[in-house]
Amino acid sequence: MELDRSDEEVLAGEYGETRRICMEILVALGKVYGAERLIPVSSVQVAGASYKTIGDPGLEWLQNLDARAVVPAFLNPIGMPRDDWRKMKIDEGFAEKQQEILDAYRRLGISLSCTCTPYYHQLVHYGDHLAWSESSAVSYANSVIGARTNREGGPSALASALIGKTPEFGLHIVGNRIPDLVIEVDDPDATKQWGSAEYGALGYLAGKEAGNRIPCFRAIRPNRDRLKSLGAAMAASGAVALYHVEDITPEARVPFFKKSFTLDQKETVTIPVADVNALFTEIEVNAVAVGCPHLSEDELRTLAGLLSGKKVKKEFFVFASKEMIDEHHDLVGTIEKSGASVYPDTCMVVSPATDTLGSVMTNSGKAFTYLPTMCGVLPRLGTIEECVRVATE
Ligand code: F3S
Repeated sequence: MELDRSDEEVLAGEYGETRRICMEILVALGKVYGAERLIPVSSVQVAGASYKTIGDPGLEWLQNLDARAVVPAFLNPIGMPRDDWRKMKIDEGFAEKQQEILDAYRRLGISLSCTCTPYYHQLVHYGDHLAWSESSAVSYANSVIGARTNREGGPSALASALIGKTPEFGLHIVGNRIPDLVIEVDDPDATKQWGSAEYGALGYLAGKEAGNRIPCFRAIRPNRDRLKSLGAAMAASGAVALYHVEDITPEARVPFFKKSFTLDQKETVTIPVADVNALFTEIEVNAVAVGCPHLSEDELRTLAGLLSGKKVKKEFFVFASKEMIDEHHDLVGTIEKSGASVYPDTCMVVSPATDTLGSVMTNSGKAFTYLPTMCGVLPRLGTIEECVRVATE
């Protein structure tokens, strides 16, 4: 790998032991994946922030680092709301450890904005190079915005934050962003009525087909919230870090990409609408959780409209970024008046709050994938309207 003089100096330990280790991580990663050089990144999103996922070994590693971020860097959701964790019935011991993790990140100069939707609050442009790590944020940045990031692990993202660079391989290289397969649904007309939950269900099925390949969808027209749901689910049931939607997502509209796509020669997978519908089973649930990924302003508004004047009879969790919640107190007030609780900084999967609930309804294809494996609960998939109906009837 070709390193410039300042990279070499960092690697030689001239800027301290932490930066030396970080440079070593980036260089090792670059060598494994055949990168020729390091490139600057405009922002970093660091995963591995919940005590539930990194535990004591992760905390200890963070506490031993000594450097400051040199580019804007922020966190993935943590295991509890930063301020009001008692309301979520988080155990005191867990909260203490979580706070120590936050303190460690603060010392490293990482912003304590804990969300999987940083693109609602950070300027991210088409063609920007990033080092992001939460899989749904990676998918959105690559696919919906047209920025360029690999799916970073926690340590490699943190190394990028402290160095300001990432090895140039994978999705940072334009030629690696061409689709490998085409995905269609057998009845495109049916998709005109679909909301985010149906797109999440499609993503759940498509991710299993795609694995870590780059799919291009044909004949569907999802808006941004539905793209968010589709991509998040594919990143969870498969390992899709980039997808395209013909005539919709930005790279699928650029002449260079259009020419390289030659979709007719690609393997085509057809997903039956009946298979999407079959995921919406009716089982009894003890609670409802929405906001995976964290809610957009439109999603918050829709939920407020649906819950306005109603009372929930089951525990109803709502997750969004702190910034989104602070900007929309009126909508949050309407939602909470129903008895639902809106939480910042955390989510139904990385917090321990849903682990003991037994069964949970969600409108997210990603949560539908992870609730059984990471929280040990039975999931039920429903539209946002069905989630409200089940919680209030
Ligand atoms: Fe975000 Fe948690 Fe879902 S991190 S994408 S809300 S699993």
